[in-house]
Amino acid sequence: MSDPTSKRRVFSGIQPSGNLHLGNYLGAIRRWVDEQGEKENFICVVDLHAVTVYQDPDELRDQTRRLMAFLLAAGIDPRRTTLFVQSHVRAHAEGAWLLNCVTPIGWLERMTQYKAKAAKQESVLTGLMTYPVLQAADILLYSAHEVPVGEDQKQHIELARDIAQRYNHLYGPTLVVPEPMIPKVGARIMGLDDPTAKMSKSSASVRGHAVALTDSDDEIRRAIKRAVTDSGREIVFDDSPEKAGVNNLLTIYQVLTSKSQDEVEADFSTARGYGDLKKTVAEVVIDAVAPIRSRYEELMEDRGELDRLMAIGAERARSIAEPKVREMKEKMGFIVPAEL
Ligand code: TYM
Repeated sequence: MSDPTSKRRVFSGIQPSGNLHLGNYLGAIRRWVDEQGEKENFICVVDLHAVTVYQDPDELRDQTRRLMAFLLAAGIDPRRTTLFVQSHVRAHAEGAWLLNCVTPIGWLERMTQYKAKAAKQESVLTGLMTYPVLQAADILLYSAHEVPVGEDQKQHIELARDIAQRYNHLYGPTLVVPEPMIPKVGARIMGLDDPTAKMSKSSASVRGHAVALTDSDDEIRRAIKRAVTDSGREIVFDDSPEKAGVNNLLTIYQVLTSKSQDEVEADFSTARGYGDLKKTVAEVVIDAVAPIRSRYEELMEDRGELDRLMAIGAERARSIAEPKVREMKEKMGFIVPAEL
């Protein structure tokens, strides 16, 4: 178990597949950046998760580097956060197998993300079903106390808690039971084209759905200008389904300006309709995204540096995950030779 006197440990992950979008940034990445130093952070580019649906191999390599560069550009500081690629630490796959063997299949069949993804496919890969077990291994191998994620991942973190508890029950206290950390605002940024569905990586290439974090200023302006709203004029927070589009734009603005709802509404009290709202929101988004985009472009030029940082992160991650998987194996009754 982890030392109670040390900093709280944080683990989170992100897939190198599809286009990174504003939802990923507001719901997760931005918070990972803000919490650095205050807590002990581990951030993982989860390439093993990405292959639970087929990925073109060249594309996967490319996306993994891009995501590393993007996270660094967004402010992840490798001196304060252990940033690494999941497949570089073998303990994740090994830990997932051990946890597969304590996880009833009924727990996985209940996962809403699995059900939604599986419904869209003719032939569902086994990895897609056991995906949340790998996610549990990610978290539990680092004895993480907190897992900062968007709303869509809450069920997976709750499953990780159940798996940890079951393991501890069977083999004795070994795994820290983690807490999901879901932000009060921005946990579920909605699609600009359909504000009743969350903004998602898989739809991020659909025109008008998302602001991709690599979009140019003009593309951002155009995407937000086209955002679906309603036929009214009132710019206030309102949970009703008809106002979902306006609510989403106000939420984006609120997270990026760190204002209260009252302050946000006051900012728009003299606006002349949704056109003004969209213009203001677009400029706030551009102010946040443009500097990240330019740092990202610089980082992508220096592949050697990216590879060096990946190696440093993996080494540090291994130093935590390998002893944990060894402890798990010993508790389960495996003979664990010293060299493993
Ligand atoms: P992924 O790659 O789909 O998303 C990365 C993070 O972005 C958040 N997010 C959103 N937040 C607000 N609004 C949205 N529309 C939105 N869309 C995505 C996600 O909640 C997530 O925090 N299974 C995970 C990756 C993972 C992981 C882990 C996370 C693997 N192992 C261990 C935490 C701990 C996933 O696919 O995230």
